Amino acid sequence: MGQPLRIGIVGVGAISGQYLSAFERLEAVRLVAVADLDAERAAAVAAEQGVRALTVDELVTDPEVDAVLNLTIPAAHADVALKAIAAGKDVYGEKPLAATTDDARAIVEAGRAAGVRVGCAPDTVLGTGVQTARKAVDDGLVGTPVAATATMVTPGHERWHPNPDFYYQPGGGPLLDMGPYYVTALVTLLGPVESVVGSASRARATRTIGSGPRAGEQVPVDVDTHVTGVLRHESGALSTLVMSFDAVATHASCIEVHGDQGSLVVPDPNGFDGTVELHRLGGGWEELPVSAGYRDAGRGYGLADLAATPPGATARANGDLAYHVLDVMTSLLTAAEKGTSVSVASTCERPAAVPLSDAPRV
Ligand SMILES: NC(=O)c1ccc[n+]([C@@H]2O[C@H](COP(=O)([O-])OP(=O)(O)OC[C@H]3O[C@@H](n4cnc5c(N)ncnc54)[C@H](O)[C@@H]3O)[C@@H](O)[C@H]2O)c1
Repeated sequence: MGQPLRIGIVGVGAISGQYLSAFERLEAVRLVAVADLDAERAAAVAAEQGVRALTVDELVTDPEVDAVLNLTIPAAHADVALKAIAAGKDVYGEKPLAATTDDARAIVEAGRAAGVRVGCAPDTVLGTGVQTARKAVDDGLVGTPVAATATMVTPGHERWHPNPDFYYQPGGGPLLDMGPYYVTALVTLLGPVESVVGSASRARATRTIGSGPRAGEQVPVDVDTHVTGVLRHESGALSTLVMSFDAVATHASCIEVHGDQGSLVVPDPNGFDGTVELHRLGGGWEELPVSAGYRDAGRGYGLADLAATPPGATARANGDLAYHVLDVMTSLLTAAEKGTSVSVASTCERPAAVPLSDAPRV
């Protein structure tokens, strides 16, 4: 067995707990240090985990840290990632890769120039849900894929989030917040996207905070809150996307894939597992057995997958994929604003399929 990748986390807020609990079952990674702008928070997590609390600058240059796990807020993703790359560390971060495509491109290019690895969430697509669906597509169970639909509707995160302001500011909105899960799954299933059309609207100028100390306070809405679009994949398949903070509920599947021989229901791409259903031409709905993906996966498996990727091969949850996904989403917002079709400048390799397995191993 090889040595685990030694990890330093920058940003130990809400999502860090999910990573820390997944690390307990991952031999490919080992936590060695944490840092946060909030030094008390870092110290508390460090004590709980039995590791060192450092400043961000100390952590990225620490000789025991091989890779920096960047769990800061989107506006800080680029600063932290570029610092880590400059110190010669691999980086893996939460989604989106950066708040803007310019920042995201800077990360990918700096990583390439430095010869370090860049990885990015979401890694939900490496779980058994999306991977079983992908295997069904690859095995030809739907025939030639012609189309997909992706639907995410909610009345808005301000109903439960005590500080929801950022969801309604540029960089937020339903597409940039939830789109990474859906668009990464669509690229995993059907390959990269070459062009987009779209249309978007916003139902209200303010939203009312529903919980916490600021309950009842209004927050301004500076982004479109209902975003629709069609993604034309390089394969010719068309994916129709609906991402909304303006709707109450839906019966629509999170994702469906349609081909000339069958239709597939894909489970929630913001989860790692779930049931895949197939309707063959002339048949009825049937549940497919789990046939691919990491079993019992959680946030952090994408980083472990990167750790386990042999030299010369490409990690699945990689920076080029995350950059393409961000490019597709920002191109869709441009298309909606201008009322035209927009070519997506970037492309990426469809990430390698995940055979059914327990966890990435070094
Ligand atoms: N909360 C969720 O349910 C959730 C789910 C999936 C993905 N994410 C993603 O995870 C990331 C973090 O979200 P969160 O909810 O944990 O946010 P959070 O605000 O709870 O935590 C972020 C932490 O990063 C620290 N931080 C911010 N800027 C920093 C900097 N420059 N240097 C060092 N530390 C810094 C903050 O002090 C805070 O402790 C985001 O990219 C988000 O999209 C969150």
